[in-house]
Amino acid sequence: ATVGGPEPHRPRFHFSPKAHWMNDPNGMVYHKGTYHLFFQYYPDGDTWGPMHWGHATSKDMVSWQEQPIALYPDSLGYIFSGSAVVDVNNTSGFGKNGQTPLVAIFTHHNPKLEKEKSDKFQYQSLAYSLDDGKTWTKYAGNPVLNNPGITDFRDPKVRWYEPQKKWIMTLATKDRITFFSSPDLKSWSKESEFGQDLGAHGGVWECPDLFSVEHNGKPVWVLLVSINPGGPNGGSATQYFTGAFDGKTFKPFSTKTQWMDYGPDNYAGVTFANTGDRVVLMGWMSNWQYAQQVPTSPWRSATTVPRQLGLKEVNKELLLTSSPVKELNALDGQSVQLKNLTVKERYDLTAKTKNKTGLFKLELAAPATADFSIVLANGKGNEVVIGYDKGANHYYIDRSNAGKTAFEKGFGKKHTVPRLSSESNLSLTMLVDVASVELFADGGLSVMSEIFFPESTLDQLVLKSAQGIQITNLKYTPLNVAKGVE
Ligand code: FRU
Repeated sequence: ATVGGPEPHRPRFHFSPKAHWMNDPNGMVYHKGTYHLFFQYYPDGDTWGPMHWGHATSKDMVSWQEQPIALYPDSLGYIFSGSAVVDVNNTSGFGKNGQTPLVAIFTHHNPKLEKEKSDKFQYQSLAYSLDDGKTWTKYAGNPVLNNPGITDFRDPKVRWYEPQKKWIMTLATKDRITFFSSPDLKSWSKESEFGQDLGAHGGVWECPDLFSVEHNGKPVWVLLVSINPGGPNGGSATQYFTGAFDGKTFKPFSTKTQWMDYGPDNYAGVTFANTGDRVVLMGWMSNWQYAQQVPTSPWRSATTVPRQLGLKEVNKELLLTSSPVKELNALDGQSVQLKNLTVKERYDLTAKTKNKTGLFKLELAAPATADFSIVLANGKGNEVVIGYDKGANHYYIDRSNAGKTAFEKGFGKKHTVPRLSSESNLSLTMLVDVASVELFADGGLSVMSEIFFPESTLDQLVLKSAQGIQITNLKYTPLNVAKGVE
């Protein structure tokens, strides 16, 4: 199904539902050798509608199998975003005869109350599974956290806080985060608020996540907050804070606004529960600015590739890094490597790489001394340009001439991400999957995710540099998706 087939823009190694509308990833949890991905899903249309939780599973985060819908709307409302945990100690009491329950904590969004202009139309509820995530039962005592009168009160991300043996819920509450705690997932007490006067506020705060990342042998807390609109390149995006958390309050290390991914197409990303010390995130690879108009059928939207998150100190600041998880290497075909490649004006890699499918990984290292770009193109004159601008010291992706762009006036643009690394040599890794590119520069310090809709496969690959540049190392690896899709 490369471009030209019946589903020309269907990604091959990213999850996308067989049909209909998807947005945020929800309830991601690793349990007994299986990765569970739930997602905001509307099974009766290809634009947003009454929300369900769709479900997909994977053994390796590379190949996903779609499963029956996990949660349907009910008398309390639509099923909005949320998380899932493995309740190892059966704190909830949902487990019977020694069973370990999986518990989903989600927002009920009540359209009737919303219509009546009540401000209490979002509240938090539970569902549990006693068959390892296959089927789910809603808790009879829902909702478990009522709305105090805040119009946006949603997207609970719950984790265990071992030092105080309690659950912590990180909740988006309009223009700030509110932390709650609970001994049993059923009764919740407010701990603190964060962020009303910090970070970006170009839009409402949504889909937060709080987790710790090992740095120099010590845990550092990271708080993710998605906002829509107000992202650095327009529309939806995810900012983050690093700091300390003591079970009650989050204290940021810096007041600077930082973005996890500068690209327009990584939203509402959160991390998997129960992956040990490894922190793995997937996002929704779209943007509310145009998600409901993108030219795909019969489905809309995909997830990003799973990314392992880390921290790196640059100029005395702790920055978040993202890298594709190593499991994706299972897709690697026979790579083509070129060393000390001089690019003067133009260097066509098409014949060398034999890129037929528009599915590949490109890794490149070069001194950060001159502008250069990598052009993915086709015979129809469509192109996606990924480049480095030395003067501005930023990377960019330009999709303004990438094929179908007219479905929304802000779609066809050039986007930039600052180069945050202070090293003299730059390095890029990009993953291209038919209709998307995910760029991880300098070990994942500068990241951009972008979707596009070419009129035929982007099977030409050209390097350009007006000033001339010597690429130290270039490695092209075709990605073999035969194993990757059903
Ligand atoms: C983010 C979001 C969430 C909400 C869900 C509804 O994209 O707006 O805040 O729970 O989508 O589908």
